[in-house]
Amino acid sequence: MAVVRAVGMMSGTSLDGVDVALIETDGERIAALGPTAYRAYTDDERSVLRQALTDAVGLTNRNARPGNLAHAESLVTDAHAEAVQAFLAANSISASEIAIVGFHGQTVLHRPRQQLTVQIGQGAALARRAGIPVAYDFRAADVAAGGEGAPLVPVYHSALVGMLGGPRPVCVLNIGGVANLTYCDPPHPPIACDTGPGNALIDDFLRERTGQRYDDGGALAAQGKVHGDFIAAALRDPFFDARPPKSLDRNAFADILSTLPKMSTADGAATLAMLTATTIARAVPHLPRPPARWIISGGGAHNRTLMSFLGEKLAPAQVKTADEVGWSGDAIEAQAFAYLAVRTLRGLPSTFPTTTGVPMPMRGGIVTQPAAQ
Ligand SMILES: Nc1ncnc2c1ncn2[C@@H]1O[C@H](COP(=O)(O)OP(=O)(O)O)[C@@H](O)[C@H]1O
Ligand SMILES: [Mg+2]
Repeated sequence: MAVVRAVGMMSGTSLDGVDVALIETDGERIAALGPTAYRAYTDDERSVLRQALTDAVGLTNRNARPGNLAHAESLVTDAHAEAVQAFLAANSISASEIAIVGFHGQTVLHRPRQQLTVQIGQGAALARRAGIPVAYDFRAADVAAGGEGAPLVPVYHSALVGMLGGPRPVCVLNIGGVANLTYCDPPHPPIACDTGPGNALIDDFLRERTGQRYDDGGALAAQGKVHGDFIAAALRDPFFDARPPKSLDRNAFADILSTLPKMSTADGAATLAMLTATTIARAVPHLPRPPARWIISGGGAHNRTLMSFLGEKLAPAQVKTADEVGWSGDAIEAQAFAYLAVRTLRGLPSTFPTTTGVPMPMRGGIVTQPAAQ
């Protein structure tokens, strides 16, 4: 297949908004990185989505939409339709120039052990509204085959690293609500896993204490003191001893917030940022060799205190933000879903035994055409 233009859209576990990105690819080579955009959720939309996470807790059938899940699903579809239409208009691109849209949807439940992963968002409705074929439901096949269904982005991280010179091995680390890494040491296949909490605990803690959505720039954490006992206790969770591949639900560690000793807001922000950094470093002994370089993407790269904790914990490895190596750190996941969508079109596998633990390389995603009902 020739190189095509594809648009990817990601709405991650942070529930902050929809990232949009265009890339040119044949599903293997990245021929060009195009424009990016972001469509934030409104506060009202965010509260519907937070409620959807609660309503999804009891799901046993991934197609069921009890409580406010049906409403949340329409909201997610609408936000993505708006996002892609605004993106095309802003960049004077017509729908016919885009071969495929990669639509992750919004994860509301992720329990691979029960072969259950639920992303809300209607692919067919999005295809009709955008007038572009849509690939969606990327995690289901992997989970049904016994994989973790996450992370999905390693195949893209590995293509990005392939274009980069410099010391190896390289770990690409995405710090969203949950943090996930891809260890790249070509020609070995990439190794990937979720490492533990990313920003989700910091965000939840701050929202409760101050109503702020996140610790902007890590300014609060910079003034706080790290409570090491809390971190030592949290690290006893068996998740951290498990070897990759492994993945997490957004709320897997939410309960530990209730075990946080009494402390100031700044101390809490510092302690939770250090927890994220420490749990990331805790993955290193599970890797074949210590990475020489870490490239950090996702919203967590904007938390400068977290970045400095990471520098400390991962030393002597180099720690750089994705933007520092010339990538668009906030758009990498969206770019990855554009890349994955083209792989779906081409019938190429997107998940592998070393990335999700699936027994054999697996194709993922369903393609729906704009005309389909
Ligand atoms: N300026 C900032 N300072 C600190 N943290 C930030 C900043 N901007 C974004 N973040 C963090 O990044 C999160 C969004 O990151 P993102 O990569 O979109 O995650 P997800 O994939 O889970 O949606 C926010 O919820 C917040 O925690
Ligand atoms: Mg996000």
